[in-house]
Amino acid sequence: MNRTFVICKPDAVERGLTGAIIDRFERKGLKVVAAELRHLDGEILARHYEEHVGKGFYDDLVAFMSRSPALTLVLEGPDDVYAIVRSMMGTTNPAEAAPGTIRGDYGTLFTENLVHGSDSNESAAREIGIFFPDLT
Ligand code: RTP
Ligand code: MG
Repeated sequence: MNRTFVICKPDAVERGLTGAIIDRFERKGLKVVAAELRHLDGEILARHYEEHVGKGFYDDLVAFMSRSPALTLVLEGPDDVYAIVRSMMGTTNPAEAAPGTIRGDYGTLFTENLVHGSDSNESAAREIGIFFPDLT
């Protein structure tokens, strides 16, 4: 089995969509193996989004991701489960994401795009190590 890291971002928690989002992953056949509702601060977000630190949108990204609690998850599934999750999420901009994806069905705003999913097996291992060190 293979694992990936997911965040139901603050907009998803605020809008009461975490159940609907987890339901999609579970119906797909993925298993929740860890979950924690937590307030993400600037320090952990700088580790998580290290490739984006200093970019033009970074301050807006941190303000959004830290404004209220997020639901952090580890999902388990077949090889390259990260790719299954990414396809279910849809493209980064919800306004352009395909219907049938999480972002395509639930969002319209660029930054407030509901979910994060690791973009590779290497990212998954790194991100699970940041948020759920006891699992590694
Ligand atoms: P994520 O990391 O959150 O799963 O999203 P992603 O891979 O689809 O997109 P990524 O390029 O990693 O960007 C991370 C988050 O930063 C915000 N963003 N804003 N205004 C912009 O140009 C811009 N670009 C990225 C989005 O909230 C995106 O999810
Ligand atoms: Mg990303």
